[in-house]
Formats: sequence, C-alpha cells, structure tokens
Amino acid sequence: MRHFLTLKDYTKEEILEIIKIGLEIKKNLKNGVYKKELKMQTLGMIFEKSSTRTRVSFETGMFQLGGHALFLSNRDIHLGRGEPVKDTARVISSMCDMVMIRTFEHSMIEEFASYSSVPVINGLTDSFHPVQLLADYMTLVEHNKAENIVAAYVGDGNNMTHSWMMLAAKLGFELRIATPKGYEVDAKILADAQELAKESGSVIITTHDPKVALKDATVVTTDTWTSMGQEDEKEQRIKIFQGFMVDDALMSHASKDAEFLHCLPAYRDLEVSEEIFEKHSKIIFDEAENRLHAQKGLMVWLNKQK
Ligand code: CP
Ligand code: NVA
Repeated sequence: MRHFLTLKDYTKEEILEIIKIGLEIKKNLKNGVYKKELKMQTLGMIFEKSSTRTRVSFETGMFQLGGHALFLSNRDIHLGRGEPVKDTARVISSMCDMVMIRTFEHSMIEEFASYSSVPVINGLTDSFHPVQLLADYMTLVEHNKAENIVAAYVGDGNNMTHSWMMLAAKLGFELRIATPKGYEVDAKILADAQELAKESGSVIITTHDPKVALKDATVVTTDTWTSMGQEDEKEQRIKIFQGFMVDDALMSHASKDAEFLHCLPAYRDLEVSEEIFEKHSKIIFDEAENRLHAQKGLMVWLNKQK
C-alpha cells in the first residue's frame, strides 16, 4: 500500500505512469466511456481549509470511477473538537477505502498516514500540494511543453513552490525560483530537492530577482502571495511583494512562446496581471480541469498498489 504525501516519495517512472493513466481516463471520458475501476469504494475527504477545485475534482472523480466521496469538514467531525488524529485515522480508514486530507501542518498528514490502513492523499498542506503538480505536468504534456522545460516560479516560497521543486528534482528539469527576501522556500526542503536533483540532472536555483528567474524560461508560474492561514499578513505581504507581479514587462524576459500556469485561485493585479492571466486563460483552465483527470489516475494507481 502506498500513500501520496509528497512527490519526494515517487520515482519519475511512477509519476509518469500516474499521468499516463489519467490521460487514458480523460480520453475515455471524452468518448463517453466510464470504467468503474473504484466501484463500491469510498473516499473520505477531510478539509481543514477551503477548496473549490480539490473538493469538486475528487468528489466528481470518485463518482465517475464508480465510487463515492464523503466531504468531512473539520467543523463537522470530532477532529475539529480535539479527537486525536491517530484515532480519527484508525476510525475513518476502517470504513473508507482511501482518504484525502487538506490541512495545515504537514506532520498532521504524516501522522494520519502512519495510523491509516488505507492510502492517504495529500490534498494540500502548508508544505506541499503534490496533486496540483500532477495536473500541471499533465497539462504541459498535452500542450507539448513537457520537453526541455526551463521553469520559473515567481512569488512566495510556499507549498506550491516546494512541490514544483520536487517535480523538477524528480523529472530532471531546470527550475528558477524568485522570492522577496524573507519569503524564501524552506531551507530543508530546498536541500532535499537539490540532493535529489543531482540524480536526475535537474538544476534548482533561488534568487531575489524575478528577471533572473524568467530569463528564457519556457514555463512561468506563480501563486497567491497570501496562502490559506496567512490572511492576517495580507496587507504587509502586498507591500513586500511589489515587483513580483507576473505582468507583460516581466514575461518579456521569458522565452517568446512561454506558457503561464496558475494553480488558482488567482488574485488579479497582485501575483499576476489581468492581461497575462487572460492571455493564458486557455491553458490555466485546462490545468484546473486536469485536476479531475490526474487525480483519477492517481486513485486508480493507488488502488492497484494495495
Ligand atoms: N488549486 C487548488 O487546490 O484549488 P482549491 O483550493 O480550490 O482546491
Ligand atoms: N498556496 C496556496 C495554494 C492554494 C491552492 C494556499 O496554500 O493557500
């Protein structure tokens, strides 16, 4: 049995296999073919933070695979009233076939997984958002942008940045990360990614100059400057992040036909200008839709590992 907590635990071959299954399922769906590969199975979904895409994609995906998904907000279950994680894990995993969790501390999901008798999927923690990267890479494959990637991430050093680092390190592409001073990526996760990068031939560099990161990049990405749980810092962050908006001026440093990705939700004229967002909206909403297909690939793959 395998969990899906970070891409660090996955080989390049496994990541590509999950995406291949997701693409196959997507093709079938577009042709009206539904294979009920998770018939009679239940996915428990614990949400300690808000979500649009993650909830809709997992719930819809499970239904299309012949199963059922349970939405468990921490306002409704005893976890939110102090029932221990390890007890919650043992109870839910005794009744469900898989569990997806969106939470704060990454250690919570690790603890849950260590007590769970079924696969646990990370639907976002403060440290990582690996299911988003499955969808992002699937989108680059579909748009013929997956070869010779030079990726640039501009903005806050957060869960999305850490997940891009792990994807680059595993798949072997170059990643440049530009953050303001004081908002860098986690040093330990960077060291881990750079160690893994040695094996794959990836290069991961960090800078405080967005222009350095974007120079000749083939894929540019960003994320909100204020992640869930940081709402109190919003005003201060907006001041500090000036100069880190992906706009026409910044994009002009990237390769001529560079793609722009955003995991969404996007805050216009903060991390990305309205113009850049709308110019790349086709690929951005393909990326959002691919959450459904990539995660179906993941759930089918995890089920096969049991
Ligand atoms: N990108 C993403 O995870 O979106 P939600 O927060 O809406 O799930
Ligand atoms: N970094 C953002 C990602 C949202 C999908 C957050 O954690 O809120």
